[in-house]
Amino acid sequence: MTSDQYDKAQREHHSLAQQLHYHNYLYHALDQPEITDAEYDRLMQRLLTLEEQFPELITPDSPTQRVGSAPLSSFPAVTHASPMLSLENAFNESDLHNFDTRIKRFLSRSEDLEYICEPKLDGVAVALTYQQGKLIRGATRGDGTTGEDITQNIRTIGAIPLQLQDDYPEQLEVRGEIYMELKGFRKLNQQRREEGEPTFANPRNLTAGSLRQLDAKLTATRPLTISCYGSGHISGATPETHMQLLEAFRNWGLKVNLETVHIAKNIDEVISRYKELQNLRDQLPYEIDGMVVKINSRALQRELGEKSRTPRWAIACKFPARQEQTVLESVRLQVGRTGAITPVANLRPVNVSGVTVSSASLHNWDEIARLDVMIGDTVVVERAGDVIPDIVQVVKEKRTGNEQPIPEPTHCPICHSPVTREKGEVIPRCQGINCPAKLKESLKHFCSRGAMDIEGLGDRLIDQLLRLKLVNSLSDIYHLTREELFQFDRMGDKLADNLLQAIAASKQRPLENFIFALGIRHVGSHLAKVLARQFGSLEALAAAKSEDLLSIHEIGPQVSESLIRFFNDENNKKLIEEFIRLGINPKSTEPITGNSLQGKIFVFTGALKQFSRKEGEALVEAQGGRASGSVSKKTDYVVAGSGAGSKLTKAEQLGIKVLSESDFLELIKEEL
Ligand code: IVH
Repeated sequence: MTSDQYDKAQREHHSLAQQLHYHNYLYHALDQPEITDAEYDRLMQRLLTLEEQFPELITPDSPTQRVGSAPLSSFPAVTHASPMLSLENAFNESDLHNFDTRIKRFLSRSEDLEYICEPKLDGVAVALTYQQGKLIRGATRGDGTTGEDITQNIRTIGAIPLQLQDDYPEQLEVRGEIYMELKGFRKLNQQRREEGEPTFANPRNLTAGSLRQLDAKLTATRPLTISCYGSGHISGATPETHMQLLEAFRNWGLKVNLETVHIAKNIDEVISRYKELQNLRDQLPYEIDGMVVKINSRALQRELGEKSRTPRWAIACKFPARQEQTVLESVRLQVGRTGAITPVANLRPVNVSGVTVSSASLHNWDEIARLDVMIGDTVVVERAGDVIPDIVQVVKEKRTGNEQPIPEPTHCPICHSPVTREKGEVIPRCQGINCPAKLKESLKHFCSRGAMDIEGLGDRLIDQLLRLKLVNSLSDIYHLTREELFQFDRMGDKLADNLLQAIAASKQRPLENFIFALGIRHVGSHLAKVLARQFGSLEALAAAKSEDLLSIHEIGPQVSESLIRFFNDENNKKLIEEFIRLGINPKSTEPITGNSLQGKIFVFTGALKQFSRKEGEALVEAQGGRASGSVSKKTDYVVAGSGAGSKLTKAEQLGIKVLSESDFLELIKEEL
């Protein structure tokens, strides 16, 4: 490699990194992307290729370095340069008036004071340290003095810049709240429900859990974000007001939820905003549990200083918890499609801040034991993020002695087959092969959006199909006749035709939908897509061995075992054969037809006659390999056409296998 080539690569690397940082900022901090996700991916891909060719260009703040390196065994402790304080609480207007009066007395002032009102996000507080604009550390609050170093996990969060922009100070410690938007939270919980996994009680717990992962790759899959609201040490001149500080953060590339930050001229305006924000609470895309009120002038903040653990210049006005008390009247058992048996509490209906709640998930028997809850108990229910409310506490003082325990079932409530709880699992499962409850849930999942998406075949019709015994397996849907449909309540010509058409149309769904629709344990829609892309057809996936599966990034032993078990099951084998016979055998549109070349790096050089360089590269990628532009020790094969020059020489020097075009085609086993 000449120094010219290296300089050129360095320039391109710099430009790509800058572009990616900038588009990341537009997307996360400003929510105003200028390019499509696909264009972003292309820039990222180019940067990855470049770094593969020139590994010395990889720096810790490169946009490629977000996905997490080796798992840690524990998080090192971090002592905060200045303590991370907490806030005093206010619960009503009069607490706020007292706060204002206290400050005025302390400052010996009588004129109005300007305040900033911010939503109090319900997440996890962190401190981010930047030196010369580079993110060097992320730490949790811990006890305020000492926290944990979670830098690896912090780096995976797209909304946190690895490199600041514009006129950033040399030293900066930013403080903010990491949280998860409700959409992402609900989606994850839904996915876990589908996969028969226990769900998270609220976004805060899920955020805390995600940040405490020792393997940053897991954190990287969680849709976390941040809002910055304060600072530790900042070098050089600092803004005069808190509002200017937040604006400066934004300009440096940090995310601040400015749309919900409000300036109040005096405490009365603070109180109006407090009421306004409570009304807005249900419309925000994230959970807030109050409003934080801060003195805007940073000079006054300094003058006011702090008490032992809390600043005098700020206060948190809490919102009433979305909790109510009611009676747990009985418990019903739900059987999911994986046989998971979930206890659900039937509650005496109660209004929790505008929503009537009449049932709540009890999750599992470990949770029942933890809560020590019984039938007849008075319980505290809470609406927190998930659409399904939670029981958070038992009011033990209200016990009468007539409460009844909630026993773990030994038999399925529907098919009466024995129930087992596997080692390490919290959920008991029905083992009945023909359990109608499992079939019903599998059918619902099969027909749902994102799966086979059969419009019109909803819960009500599925119930009838099962009651009339018209379907005994997933594939039976495709055998339904017009006459059979007329046995349904309120079935007319038009409805029957539409339904048959929707069923027929579903045969054309993409492979990823089909894999997802099968309802394989631990395989949600995302993994279904990964598998579709990797294997290209259901037959290839069904034939995959555990080493093939484990070589795929994102697939661990749990998923691999689940897939192998699914495809080895005799009933499932018959089902798949039946689907294929019915003509449901989709192929992936971007197939990786095999992974025989998994991880292998190819370089094409010279004039190729039998195929173009692009086609050659596509063939390699289709088999799970990668194509590169330059020869290095990492190269596995060089495919040389006529007139090949320096790359061929280098390959020979390094002892890399050189292939002719025909050798290559032989290797790929593809007929062009
Ligand atoms: S200011 C000295 N602002 O609430 C200032 N905190 O009890 C300290 N929080 O640990 C914090 N949103 O986790 C501040 N806009 C906001 C906040 C906020 C949420 C959390 C933070 C802190 C706790 C205070």
